[in-house]
Amino acid sequence: MSKLRVGALVSGRGSNLQALLERSAEPDARFAIVLVASNHADAFALQRARSFGVPAAVVERKEYPTRAQQQQAMVELLRQQEVDLVVLAGFDRVVGTELLVAFPGRIVNIHPSLLPAFSGGLHAQAEALAYGVKVSGCTVHFVTETVDGGPIVLQTAVPVLENDTAASLAERILAAEHQTLPRAVDLIARGLVRVEGRRVFIDAACESKEMNSEVEQR
Ligand code: GRF
Repeated sequence: MSKLRVGALVSGRGSNLQALLERSAEPDARFAIVLVASNHADAFALQRARSFGVPAAVVERKEYPTRAQQQQAMVELLRQQEVDLVVLAGFDRVVGTELLVAFPGRIVNIHPSLLPAFSGGLHAQAEALAYGVKVSGCTVHFVTETVDGGPIVLQTAVPVLENDTAASLAERILAAEHQTLPRAVDLIARGLVRVEGRRVFIDAACESKEMNSEVEQR
């Protein structure tokens, strides 16, 4: 069975990428990471990609006259690898028209809060703590022109504890991210995700049937 071809855009440490790479290496995985591209040459995520034998590209802003041209370069790379789905796995820039037009409805992002709370910034965990919420978490959503505003695929809630610091809360949310992102990509790869307007439906009946038939096949 052919696998969904996933391209990941990254900017830093790449722990979410690692979770995706590990899931993609499992025998029942329905997706393959075929390209990792970073806007920072020193992103550790690039090393993680290489250690899995995945092509790792650097597309730095300073190499291009405009941000649009930089993003168009990413589009070309993703197209060369015949990518079906683009995953923003810790990508620290807003996705522009070039990517949105090239991959309509085929870009997902992981954000470290329960959207729509604490959207937009790079410090969602600290903002959640400062606001005093008792529950936060992570969200995987489709990417649209509204930053962090696209249809929500999956969310995982994480408690905020009384002795939390921004770092300890971020660590607890990150552990949830590492489960949630590969699961969302897996569901998309299995064709179980349907978008209707703002709402995303997951065909749970098919999911359990699929899982059962996999068990039978083993
Ligand atoms: C994660 O918290 C993710 O939710 C956010 O950026 C961070 C990336 O971490 N978008 P990593 O590079 O995957 O370790």
